[in-house]
Amino acid sequence: MGTAESIQPLLRRAATLESEQPDQAGALYAQALVQDPACLTAHNALERLGHRQRFSHWMRINCRIHPDDDIFAFIARSPESTNPIRDYLADGWRTLSELMLLLEALDQPLLKTESLLEFACGFGRFTRHLAPVLPGRVTCADVLPGSVDFVREQFGVAAFESAMAPERLRVPGRYDLVFVLSLFTHLPVSAWRTWLQTLAGAVKPGGLLLLSFHNEQAAAEFGVSFDDSGIFFQPSSESPTLDAQRYGTTLTTRKVIEDEIAAALDTPIALYRERAFWVGQDAVAIRIGDSS
Ligand SMILES: C[S@@+](CC[C@H](N)C(=O)[O-])C[C@H]1O[C@@H](n2cnc3c(N)ncnc32)[C@H](O)[C@@H]1O
Repeated sequence: MGTAESIQPLLRRAATLESEQPDQAGALYAQALVQDPACLTAHNALERLGHRQRFSHWMRINCRIHPDDDIFAFIARSPESTNPIRDYLADGWRTLSELMLLLEALDQPLLKTESLLEFACGFGRFTRHLAPVLPGRVTCADVLPGSVDFVREQFGVAAFESAMAPERLRVPGRYDLVFVLSLFTHLPVSAWRTWLQTLAGAVKPGGLLLLSFHNEQAAAEFGVSFDDSGIFFQPSSESPTLDAQRYGTTLTTRKVIEDEIAAALDTPIALYRERAFWVGQDAVAIRIGDSS
């Protein structure tokens, strides 16, 4: 995220005061944030200094945001967001409530989940809300450089590096719940089956694989149309680092989702809930049997 040029002198002054006069430094960082509400340097400094205007004071979670967080950058670019830091942190809260509602419907409450793999965690938009409610029970994985170290150090979760190719993925255990939010919304459909099988293999027998996909009707709202197979793929995403052919933007019909799952896993869908996440992502839950 580029910080507004006009607040650079303010940030420099704040930085020089930080060790000797932290209160004054905090006041300057707070001023910088008023001028540029997307300034992560000022936000993270307020968190670090324990300043009374820090978000963690009232949210009571770790609110530090990594400067390479693409989801934060995406929110900060959105014309709808007047307070990107608040919106980013609230967005993770929303995911927590959406996940809890789904798990209630599946009669597998979140708090009774013994082990959870949050696959494709990014820089912890959601992890920061999940880790405190399941202490010692969350493992995370992603491919973005620095992401796994960040979530491990900041949120105290176990974490491992994923791989771009599912064949190269090494998962260190099996989990009662494998939660994959907004990864299949980016992977080309040709890669789905192997990913589905690989991720199902990370679920303990009797556990759940919970995935999200773009909702079919949301495609029309986003102004995209499907090809004859019911697929739209565009080689671009919120990520400036990942190969856009392997991580782009994917929308499909519901039939494609159901057919791909049926072809990959010999297991019926336990729950299909339209628009369960965000504005336009469907949730699909699959209970993994003993033979997977
Ligand atoms: C749209 S983001 C969602 C992040 C997170 N699930 C959330 O809800 O905030 C998708 C994430 O998938 C990750 N990703 C892409 N390819 C991956 C792979 N092969 N293994 C693990 N994560 C991957 C990206 O790096 C990115 O962090």
